[in-house]
Amino acid sequence: MSQYASERTTRIARQYDLFQASLETTEKQRKYLNYGYTITGDESYEQRQEQLCMEVFRAAELTRDHVVVDVGFGSGEQDFLLVRTCEFARLIGYNIAETQVRYASARAAHEGLAGKLEFRAGEAEALPGLAPASVDRVMAIECAFYFDRPRFYERAAEVLKPGGRLVLADICFSDACTWLARPRVGTASGNRREWEKFFHTRSIRPIHQHTRPGAQMTVTQIFKTMPRATLTFAQRVEWLKMAIASQIVALGLRTRLLHYDLIVLER
Ligand SMILES: C[S@@+](CC[C@H](N)C(=O)[O-])C[C@H]1O[C@@H](n2cnc3c(N)ncnc32)[C@H](O)[C@@H]1O
Repeated sequence: MSQYASERTTRIARQYDLFQASLETTEKQRKYLNYGYTITGDESYEQRQEQLCMEVFRAAELTRDHVVVDVGFGSGEQDFLLVRTCEFARLIGYNIAETQVRYASARAAHEGLAGKLEFRAGEAEALPGLAPASVDRVMAIECAFYFDRPRFYERAAEVLKPGGRLVLADICFSDACTWLARPRVGTASGNRREWEKFFHTRSIRPIHQHTRPGAQMTVTQIFKTMPRATLTFAQRVEWLKMAIASQIVALGLRTRLLHYDLIVLER
């Protein structure tokens, strides 16, 4: 890994460590960190966030014997939802933010789910400890734009069994703004070219109409739930950066300079 890559990963991990620490002091019951998926337009923010995860679970078509890997699992909230709503054999989560790994692991132990849900510190690009062709599904909910995509696609393909699936709720730039695209976020065609070195594309469903309203709401949610009195300066800065980023994403989705897609890839 280049020095740039490791510095970047450390910066992202620090950012999510700070989010997690402040989320643990808020009233927010469900600790999702995604823009959500709206169907009726009158769901709460947390219902929308849950619905985005449910869309990914449905696309994954899990069965009771499946071994699932969840990369960039945030606080792990989505994996506790998965236990409540789907049958599968076991799940291994990977996250670079150690505070989130500690929180999710402690919660799994507390809820008697440690045999079912295992949360590991590690990069999605590396998936340490997984044998080749040992996994049925890999899920990435609103996080692949942080990854070194070529390395991630290659490693996900390696650990998946033949016929296994990688399912992503993913944001990228439209092909019209290649000049603007950041390397990790990538463009629709550029990312597809990379994954098709390893995967067959089963489906790509544009879901920006369902996710944009939540991105837009994020700023008010942050100011409503942020426990201002207890936040450190560094935490305030990170929440502020997230609030600004959410509005840029909402604008990008409205103008179609950004895509938000539900992508199902098969090994
Ligand atoms: C926007 S949050 C999404 C969290 C969660 N999937 C959800 O929907 O609530 C992005 C997550 O990806 C994690 N992440 C970022 N880069 C990563 C990497 N290279 N490997 C593993 N996790 C990573 C962050 O620590 C964070 O937990």
